[in-house]
Parts: sequence; structure tokens; C-alpha cells
Amino acid sequence: MKNSMSIKTGLAALIAVLTVSCTSGYKKVSGKRANYTTMSSEELAEHLIFKDRGFKLNQKVQEGGTMRDRMKQDEIQKICSALKKRQVDSSTAQKVSTIAKNNMLYPKGSIRLGDWKKGRALVQNAFGFRVGHKTDKHSKRKPGGMCVNCHLLDSKMTIPSGNLGPSLRGYGKTRGQSEGVMKYTYEVIYNPHSVFPCTNMPRLGANGFINQEQIRDVMAYLLDPKSPINQ
Ligand code: HEC
Repeated sequence: MKNSMSIKTGLAALIAVLTVSCTSGYKKVSGKRANYTTMSSEELAEHLIFKDRGFKLNQKVQEGGTMRDRMKQDEIQKICSALKKRQVDSSTAQKVSTIAKNNMLYPKGSIRLGDWKKGRALVQNAFGFRVGHKTDKHSKRKPGGMCVNCHLLDSKMTIPSGNLGPSLRGYGKTRGQSEGVMKYTYEVIYNPHSVFPCTNMPRLGANGFINQEQIRDVMAYLLDPKSPINQ
């Protein structure tokens, strides 16, 4: 399993902040002095992780293998990283969404809704694949969907939400449950690059964060009229 770009970027930024705050602007690296002050945050993060050994790349990760394996970019990540923050152009967008669509796996039969209550537990469970000082131990707790990290969810939810993604409050109320809506929602959750090429949203289905049954439950949370997100 590969991890999402956003987790990597977040991690890299965090390492950058931590390290910059406790070292001076210069550090001797294999005989050469690296000038942190002239580096962009991405260059600095890359430098600290890969050249300065500021991060334990041999650390084991939850999906098997090491941090070093996780840092290897897959095809979509390489194409999107090459943009270097430029807005995605139409030919890159086309390329990325084609790769995503070609690798899309649909459930056998039709796309169906599961149990919104189970879905609600998943969307607010931000326990996942973190490593570092506090590693998410899957033997202690099962990982969730992490949606709350980026989306505003139902009004009864007490844990604070992130806002990298759009609010999903009232998602099913305005859309209904047509075949098109079901397919769109499934595709966004399974592999959002099919719809939003080079997005920050992780590939929750394609990368194995959540399985088919869990996707059905999360979809029920978003689309079932009884779900608190649609009240
Ligand atoms: C790291 C942040 C992040 C996480 C985690 C995340 N998303 Fe997203 N999501 C986004 C972003 C950003 C967009 C907007 C797409 C874009 O423009 O790139 C989005 C878009 C969506 C959309 C489309 C909204 C619309 O109005 O069409 C849906 C549906 C969605 N996300 C559902 C989910 C669900 C369900 C989960 C958890 C299983 C989840 N997201 C986890 C960042 C995230």
C-alpha cells in the first residue's frame, strides 16, 4: 500500500518546522554546508529527510516495509509533484484522471449504501498510519477514514474538523441517491484523482485505508436521509 501525498507533505512540513526551530541556519552535510535559509520549505523537507538523516527512514510502517518504501512516489504522485504548486493544466489533469480511472475497482453488482452509524464512526476516526514519536498501533485500535481531518461533517459531532476539503454537511440532502450520485461519491472516496486530478484528498479506497464494506458505510453516512449529516 502506498500512502497519500498529503500525509507525506504534512509530515515533511512538520519535520521542517521542528528541525528549523532547534537548529541554526547552517549545517555541515557530507563536507558541504547546506544553507537552510535559501531553501524553499519543500527543498528543506527533502534535504532534512533524505540528506541530513533528520528522519528515521528505516522505521517500520503499519502497511509493511519501512518509511523509505513509503517515501517512494507512485506514478500519480510523481506527475503531481512535478507541477511544483502550479495549477494542474488540462493535459496533466487528463493524464492523472485516466490513470486513476483505469485503476478504479467497483464493487461486484451495483454500488449500495451500508450502515450510516458505522460510517459515522469511520468518518470521525482519524487514527491511521502516523509514524514518528507516536506511532498509530493497529494492534491497539483499528484505523478509520480520517474524513474529519479535512471536512466539516454533521453538527452533532463534537471533535473539531479540518477545512482542507469542502464542507460535507447536507451532502445527501441536496444530491439525492441517483445512480450518477452514487457513482460519483464512490469514485471520489475510492480514488479522488479520477474526478479531481492532483487533489490533496487521499486515495482511501485505492490505497487500502478503507475496504469496500467500509466505503458502503461511509457512503450511507453521506447519502442516507436518516444520517445526521442530512438533518
Ligand atoms: C487530507 C484531506 C482529506 C481527507 C482526509 C478527505 N478528504 Fe475528501 N476532499 C478533500 C479535498 C481537498 C476535496 C476537494 C477536491 C479538490 O478540489 O481537490 C475533497 C472532496 C471530497 C468530496 C467531493 C465533495 C463534492 O462536493 O463534490 C467528497 C464526497 C469527499 N471529499 C469525501 C470524503 C470522505 C468520505 C473522506 C473520508 C473517508 C474524505 N473525503 C477524506 C480532502 C480530504
